[in-house]
Amino acid sequence: MPLSKLFTPVTIPTRSGAGLMLRNRVVLPPMCQYAVDKTDGVPTDWQLVHLGSMAHGGFSLIVTEASAVVPEGRISDRDAGIWNEEQVQSWARVNEYVHAHGAATAIQLAHAGAKASTYGWLQELEAEQKTGSLAASEGGWDTVTSTPSEIYGLKPASGMTQEQIADSVQAWAAAAERADAAGFDMIQIHAAHGYLIHQFLSPLSNKRTDEYGGSWENRTRYLREIVHAVAARWPENKALGIRFSGDDWVEAGWRIADTIKLAEELYAAGVRAFDLSSAGIGAFHGPSGPGYQVPLAQAVKQALPDDAFVTAVGGITEAHQAEQILVTGQADGVCIGRAALGDPQWPNRAAQVLGASKSHPSHYWRGRW
Ligand code: FNR
Repeated sequence: MPLSKLFTPVTIPTRSGAGLMLRNRVVLPPMCQYAVDKTDGVPTDWQLVHLGSMAHGGFSLIVTEASAVVPEGRISDRDAGIWNEEQVQSWARVNEYVHAHGAATAIQLAHAGAKASTYGWLQELEAEQKTGSLAASEGGWDTVTSTPSEIYGLKPASGMTQEQIADSVQAWAAAAERADAAGFDMIQIHAAHGYLIHQFLSPLSNKRTDEYGGSWENRTRYLREIVHAVAARWPENKALGIRFSGDDWVEAGWRIADTIKLAEELYAAGVRAFDLSSAGIGAFHGPSGPGYQVPLAQAVKQALPDDAFVTAVGGITEAHQAEQILVTGQADGVCIGRAALGDPQWPNRAAQVLGASKSHPSHYWRGRW
């Protein structure tokens, strides 16, 4: 069989132990499903079947949708969460099933900050023209951020006090502990897309004058505190990852040089998986098209030691395109998002195209790819 880099197994190093072994380099990125039934943050059968079918499809690492570390950190009231025991139990069921079908799992820990308490973006909500902040009469809640700002086009959020920041850091760490109890192999800290951590990182949104704002050192403090607190409560033999918006695509914003510097610091703190998305604060000014964020992954990969696992995401839809990204050393893995919603068997289909071994379940062996 011809060698395919995309289907060559890889290990994400951990701080101790053997590392997290992946059967190939095709990763399912986090995708909100807005599928929680009772606005209680408890994943449902939808998450089990949705993520389970991605395991059938051959993904090696399956990252959950953004899962809120506290209820007020949800984008919408139908988001999943990881702030209580019932959620742990439900995620444990998903983990057990996905693991049984050969994939590793990561939970994306998230807090939406000023972008919380919205309607989310389900097709039916769009049809009803329900966008923006969730009305108080429909259960909307107060939101927090680094600095109050109009930039989000949502109801005003209040600036966090230092006490709230300290509590919040502990909430991320407690969520990490629950994620371990639920059986996840990896944590991905959501520092991208204009949500709370990014609201601290970016000079477009963070106008604080205390030690959490102003200089690069201060704007990155909240995230660095989270990473240290999470690392202290997350087993050393499990993998630690982060998703960045690598660039705000605005001159005065958070730029790729900032991301590289921070990635180097977080690598030293034990983070080994780096996923490079972009944008999310204010209007979108970035590029688009096939592989439009790959150069961000490449820049971070070049700066980090070889054992970091850097993934590219965005507009990767074809097997040869994915293979080329890896063969040319631009990234160590690729995320397949929207293309996987259309075709959960994307990895098995790509394996067929590239002449690699498929990993479909035996029940599907008569299927044609
Ligand atoms: C997303 N994306 C996303 N990103 C993230 O960090 N956390 C999330 O929960 C979500 N939710 C989400 C839901 C849906 C329905 C889509 C389509 C996307 C972004 C996603 O992970 C990915 O970065 C983009 O979709 C770009 O990759 P593709 O789709 O071009 O492969």
